[in-house]
Order: sequence, then structure tokens, then C-alpha cells
Amino acid sequence: MPTKISAPRGTRDLLPEQTGAWDHVETVARDLSRRYAFERIEIPLFERVELFARGLGETSDAVEKEMFRVSGAAGSEEERAEWALRPEPTAGIIRAFIEHGMHVRAGPLRVTMIGPMFRYDRPQAGRYRQFSQWDVEVIGDPGPAVDAELIELAHRFYAEVGLTDAVAHVNSIGDARCRPAYRQALVDYFSEHLDRLGEDSRRRLELNPLRVLDDKQLAPDLADAAPRSADHLCDDCRAHFRAVLDLLDALKLRYVVDHRLVRGLDYYTRTTFEFVIAGREGQQQALGGGGRYDGLAELLGGRPTPGIGFGIGLDRTVLALEDQGVAVPEATSLVAVVGTGDDHADRLMVAGRLRDAGLRVRPDGSSRKLGKQLEAATKAGATWAVIVGDELGEDRVGLKDLAVGEQVTVGVDEVAERISG
Ligand code: HAM
Repeated sequence: MPTKISAPRGTRDLLPEQTGAWDHVETVARDLSRRYAFERIEIPLFERVELFARGLGETSDAVEKEMFRVSGAAGSEEERAEWALRPEPTAGIIRAFIEHGMHVRAGPLRVTMIGPMFRYDRPQAGRYRQFSQWDVEVIGDPGPAVDAELIELAHRFYAEVGLTDAVAHVNSIGDARCRPAYRQALVDYFSEHLDRLGEDSRRRLELNPLRVLDDKQLAPDLADAAPRSADHLCDDCRAHFRAVLDLLDALKLRYVVDHRLVRGLDYYTRTTFEFVIAGREGQQQALGGGGRYDGLAELLGGRPTPGIGFGIGLDRTVLALEDQGVAVPEATSLVAVVGTGDDHADRLMVAGRLRDAGLRVRPDGSSRKLGKQLEAATKAGATWAVIVGDELGEDRVGLKDLAVGEQVTVGVDEVAERISG
């Protein structure tokens, strides 16, 4: 017998019993996108490696360790193409913004997408090689009001999916003017404690000292005493950060200022934020995160354009819902259409009319005995059975409540009303 083939490591199949929670989460995301006036955008699943290297930074984990490389077909000119599956969508969206000259549109541009991302990471609970994000971006707005609006939007998303204890961690990491001095302060500080840093952090200290703060192995006392970016902001960045926090206070949003929140991608400037479940900080990976990237468009060859956005991990959101036992809205009642003998034309015709009336309908395609069909309907999760028989001549059918066992004869056009009533 041929051997079985399994899904690649770090990927998952979402089986029908799991996708109800996904539908719920995606429905909330789409509905919020509409209510917050975001327009849909789609970009390719793969892009030039250079886009990610320039956009996210050569030393970001996503580029340095986790690029999922793609090449063209063997023998083609593109065999050695430098492409990678997208680890995140922001760089691709800004590429599209520049490529299509979208700066001429009435701004700021508000775009959103939901889709899979790919990072060749070591798989573990909540960390996959293919995962989904709900992404929103506002391009062309320097803030600070929009910074608060996006943090409020993410808050509302978690509340509406049913995660009431998600809390925002916020920080400001400054901009091209004040960051160099902060970087130097970190290098000076950590250089004094090299013996207490892991190998990764020692290497990062040269290339990207902010990321040392992100090191989960960093001793808490060393982290607490480390220079804080909030203390090194230039006047403009400090005023921006203060304004964002004042707006969050005015909106009565739950947040904590987290001085270690530097984020893993290099394009960030000023406001950064992440969402975690309150009380589980540190033990759990972020449910979502984002921030401002005022230098990214220029880095990718466009004109200077401020931007801010977030990516919410849908896999982790669904895991948190399961973890906390949050009930997701049930699908509408399932109606089975059963009959006798070979009356399949009648069953399909009745099923069609019930669907016209908006019902979720599953006709039995077999010629089994009625009892067997009703048994199968219950097993499949149907709560009602519509029984097609001789009464169809008068446009009537049997309607059986499968939970209670009661049966009545009703007009085909009355079924929907009976079920919802
Ligand atoms: P990120 O923090 O790299 O930001 O990813 C956002 C979210 O995606 C994370 O908080 C997490 O929930 C989820 N995520 C990331 N990696 C994985 C993984 N391997 N498995 C499961 N879930 C994962 C970004 O990607 C930025 N593009 C967000 C952004 C948009 N910033 C500005 N605009």
C-alpha cells in the first residue's frame, strides 16, 4: 500500500468542527473593517526577498532566520529568483501603494486584508509556519489620533470576538532623530553586562541593540534597569507619545506602558503596541501587534509617507477563545429534507424553495427507509426534518422537530417561519 502523506510541519488543517470559530473571528474582523471605513486590498503571497530585507530589516528574525524561499520551475529563467512567501503584509502593501502611485488619492488611505503569512520558524503551540492575520493599515496620516483609533479598534475586535481581558501594551521607540542616541545608550548599558547576555543578544547588540530588550532569556533585573526609549525621545516624539496616551485615557482603554516593547520588525517608529491576555504577560505570545512606520515608504523607494497599522494573529485569537471556553455563535439550524423511494426530484425542488427562504438545507440523496434517513439527519446535526410525501400535491410537507419528535403538516412556504418562530 502506498505510504500516507501528511501535512507539512508547522501547518494545520482546519477541520469543519474547527472552522466555526474561524468564521466567527473573520466575520467580526470584516464587520469592523466596514464600520471603521477600511477598504479591502490584496497583494501576492510571494514577493522579492529584497522587499522584506529592506522593509523588515536584514537582522529581523523574519528575514534572517525565517524566510520561506520560493523559486521558479526547474529549467526556467526564474529558477533562481529571489522570492519569498510573505512573512507579513505591511511591506507588500507599501510596495503596492508606491507602485500604483496611490499617494495621489484622497488620503489617508485605509486598507485591510485577511490572509495567510509564512515564517519558517520552529513550530510550537501558537506558532506556526503558516498562520493567518487580519491586517489594517492607515497610510498618509501622521497621527496621533489615528494611533489611538487603531488601538481602540483592536480592543474592540477582542471584545467583540469574546476575549474580554485582552490588554494593550504600548510604547514609543522614537524616530530617526532620537533613536541613534537611544541605541547607543543600550549598547553602552549592555556592554557593561556582556557576561549576562545570551549568544543571540550579544550578536544583536552590535547590529540591532533594541532587540536585546526582546530577548525572553534576559534577566528581569537587567531588563528593568535598562535605558528606556521613553526617556530618550526627542521633543516631537515625546509630544506624540503623550498625545496618544492622553487619547487612550480619554477613551478609557485598558493599556500598560511597556518599556521593553520594541517589536521584532525594523520599520517601526514612534508608537508600538501589542495585545496580550491580562495576567498572562510573558508566558504567552502576543495575540496581535502593530505600530507606526513613518520611514517605510521612503525606505522602499517612495516619497516620505507616514503610516500605522496592526496585524492580529487569527490562529492565536482562536486558540485563546478555545482556551477560555468562549462560546462562538452557533450556525443557523440545519434542516434535512427526507422522502421515500426515488422522489429525489421532489426533495431537491423542496430543498431549493427552503434555501430561497434562507434556510440551511441538506437533502438526503439516498433511497434508504425514512427511519434511517431521519437517524442520519440527527447524526449530521439537523434539528428539523422536512418530510416529502403525497401531501406535496397540495404543496404541503411534514415538518418534524428532531429534538422533541413532534411532527406537523405545513405548507412548503410556511416552513421557514415555523422554524425561526
Ligand atoms: P507581528 O507582530 O510580526 O507584526 O505579527 C502580528 C501577529 O501575527 C502576532 O502578534 C501574532 O499574533 C501573529 N503571528 C506572528 N507570527 C506567528 C506565527 N509564527 N504563528 C502564529 N501567529 C503568528 C506584523 O506582522 C506586522 N505586519 C503588523 C503591522 C501591521 N504593523 C504595522 N502594520
